[in-house]
Order: sequence, then structure tokens, then C-alpha cells
Amino acid sequence: MLKDNPRFARMVGGVPERLGLWMLSHLQYFQLGAHKQPSDVRLIKQVRRERTCLMSAFECFTLHSLAKACGRMPGEIAEVGCYRGASTKLICEAVGGVHSNKTVHVFDTFEGLPKSSPPDRGIHDENQYACSLESVREYLQPYSNVRYYKGIFPATSEPVNDLQFSFVNCDVDLYEGTLGCLEFFYPRLVPGGILMSHDYSMLNGVKQAFTEFLADKPESAVELPTSQCMLVKRG
Ligand SMILES: C[S@@+](CC[C@H](N)C(=O)[O-])C[C@H]1O[C@@H](n2cnc3c(N)ncnc32)[C@H](O)[C@@H]1O
Repeated sequence: MLKDNPRFARMVGGVPERLGLWMLSHLQYFQLGAHKQPSDVRLIKQVRRERTCLMSAFECFTLHSLAKACGRMPGEIAEVGCYRGASTKLICEAVGGVHSNKTVHVFDTFEGLPKSSPPDRGIHDENQYACSLESVREYLQPYSNVRYYKGIFPATSEPVNDLQFSFVNCDVDLYEGTLGCLEFFYPRLVPGGILMSHDYSMLNGVKQAFTEFLADKPESAVELPTSQCMLVKRG
């Protein structure tokens, strides 16, 4: 499998990853354009042009679609791992755009990835994917419903301790951060609420966190055709 090939590690980050995503996404635009809502496809193209985005077009579509569905449920919205804010903008647009009163809580170090641990197999470097809070805030300035929390999650979670969530996008690339998201958000998901993660089938640390966390839970990770998976909270 590609993810177990040592060459894969050298593709992560930088030009090869971005070029691969660019080519893949341009193929996917054709498929999306054939049968999806034109306004959704336009939005995905626009966001991917505006900001470096680490998701393919299909992954952007899945994120937008799930956030839209869950945005209609009671509960707030969260994202852990926003990088340059492209995924956050898709979420914001999905939950009503600039006039939405649904709060979107965004957690990031805004200094890139923290240290990895053994399950991550050394694929990433510390501080990879760094983008400042000021830059993300400026990009998302039209959305007054976004709240930012800077630092390593879950140490930054205290302000949202008492909230319930209908949708969480977890995109932190690493075992410890993914486990932290699961441990924090699982008990705070409303019934039917969804926690989605990027890279479930691409990064061993992410998959291991889900496998360990769900071992004693009634839910399973629902694997999607992209690298993503989702966890739907039982009632
Ligand atoms: C792959 S990037 C996110 C990509 C973004 N969602 C997109 O689609 O463009 C990973 C992000 O997670 C952040 N991150 C990783 N672990 C974290 C943690 N434990 N707490 C906060 N932020 C974290 C990094 O700073 C980085 O911005």
C-alpha cells in the first residue's frame, strides 16, 4: 500500500504533496461537476484556489456536505487542525456563511504540528504546516461566528468544556492529537452528531487512535472512499 511505502513519507509536505492533490482534484472536479450542485463545486474550487488546502476536492466535498447536514442539528461545530483555514471556510459556508449564528470553534497550535510519537512512524516534522493565527483570522474575517483557540489541543479545550457538538472535523495528522480529539469530543457529541477525521486510511497514528479509542465503544469508524472516516454518535 502507498502509505507503507517509504517514498510516501518523502512526499508528505511540500511540493509533491501539493502537486499530487492539485492533479487529483482537477480530475475530481469533472466528476463532481457532472452531478453535484454547481454552487458547491464552485465553492470548493474557489477555496482551493484561495488557500493552500491539504484535502482533495472529494475530501472538501465530504467535509462540506457533512458539516451542512450536522449544522441543522442542535450543537456547536468544531475543527481541530485548520492549517491555513481552507477547511474552516468550507465549514463556515456549510453552516450558513457570513450571516450564520452557529459558532465554529477552531483549535490549532498556529505553529504547525507538535512532536510526533512512535505510532506516527516519523512521517511528519515538528512545526510542519505552520500558519499564524493572524493569517487565518484575516482570511476568515467575514465570518464573525468563528472562535479561535491557540495551542496544543486538548490543553486548549477548557473554554468549550460545557458545550455539546453536532460536528467536529479533526485533521491533526498525529496519534496523540487524534486520540485527544476523540477523548474530548466523544462525550460531548449530540446523538447523531459526527466526528470526522482526515487521513484515517493514510496515516497509521490516526487509525491507531480510532482503533484504540473505539475498542470499548458501541460505535465503529465508518471509512469513506477518501482518506477520511467518520464516527456517528449513537443516541
Ligand atoms: C494537515 S494540517 C490541517 C489541514 C487543514 N484542515 C486543511 O484541510 O487545509 C494539520 C494542522 O493541525 C494542527 N495540529 C496538529 N496537532 C495539533 C494539536 N494537538 N493541537 C492543535 N493543533 C494541532 C497543525 O498546526 C496544522 O495546522
